Amino acid sequence: MSDGRKILVSGSNGQLGSELQEIARQFKEFQFVFFSRAELSITDRAALEKMFILHRPSYFINCAAYTAVDKAEKEKEIAEEINGHAVGAIATLCSQYDCRLIHISTDYVFNGKASTPLKEDDPVDPVNAYGDSKLLGERLAMQHTDAVIIRTSWVYSKYGNNFVKTMKRLMGEKESISVVHDQVGSPTYAADLATAIMEIITSGKWEPGIYNYSNSGVISWFDFANEIKIQLHSKCEVYPIPTSQFPTPAKRPAYSVLDKEKIQSVYHIKAREWKESLKECIDKLG
Ligand SMILES: NC(=O)c1ccc[n+]([C@@H]2O[C@H](COP(=O)([O-])OP(=O)(O)OC[C@H]3O[C@@H](n4cnc5c(N)ncnc54)[C@H](OP(=O)(O)O)[C@@H]3O)[C@@H](O)[C@H]2O)c1
Repeated sequence: MSDGRKILVSGSNGQLGSELQEIARQFKEFQFVFFSRAELSITDRAALEKMFILHRPSYFINCAAYTAVDKAEKEKEIAEEINGHAVGAIATLCSQYDCRLIHISTDYVFNGKASTPLKEDDPVDPVNAYGDSKLLGERLAMQHTDAVIIRTSWVYSKYGNNFVKTMKRLMGEKESISVVHDQVGSPTYAADLATAIMEIITSGKWEPGIYNYSNSGVISWFDFANEIKIQLHSKCEVYPIPTSQFPTPAKRPAYSVLDKEKIQSVYHIKAREWKESLKECIDKLG
């Protein structure tokens, strides 16, 4: 490993990558090198290796991913290439160049049939192509190096496209909207996830494995939309509908609440309450 100070971040223009860029300045002891997709495609193995040789990073945070859940049903190979095989290539390089990998995965590795919060070692069984591709990435990462894999859910931020920004726009345009009430999970403010990643890096320990992380709270998408409406002081009516009335190309797990006990006991990372984080994001959106 190099002097322990250099952190490479891929997919740096996404939600999580952008939030990491924002908090990086608080960690002056580290040298961050951020790569957008245009600067480094993680499916380009030669380019990846060049970056490892040039920078000799101590940490690689992989924020790059194919995240178009519905589109993935028709683009399985592309999703598998980016979310699966490219992660395997990064992991191989990490073990070759003695670099620690932090990779992000998803609640969509579960089938949604549970009724109590999911633990890291509960059986996986994705219900869509995106989930399949992310599970492949987890497995290849683990096969090649001692990675920390963080499973997260319902990510939003002031950056990129996400549910909070879509709701804000729709609430500004429409008198009423309908949102599914029978998919239950926990939102994750990408800024909190970025902070959690840095807490792992600065914790003074490295215990590889899979960890769950999201904000605290168990809600439906309808509950989420309703709270967005309240915080925005919007007059738009929000109606609950069942998933059957909102068909999408990709199936979604009905229940994907992640149990966060492990990340709290190993790394002392406590999930922030979802409404508080939402307020911070909405304030930033202005
Ligand atoms: N968003 C969610 O609700 C959610 C939920 C659970 C887990 N996650 C996971 O959390 C992580 C971060 O997600 P996010 O919400 O920050 O995703 P995001 O906003 O979609 O960002 C992903 C970034 O990866 C880039 N990218 C795509 N293909 C690439 C490639 N071949 N090489 C390099 N970069 C590439 C994208 O660039 P382009 O925009 O140019 O394609 C984008 O900037 C991902 O691993 C995701 O699977 C997300």
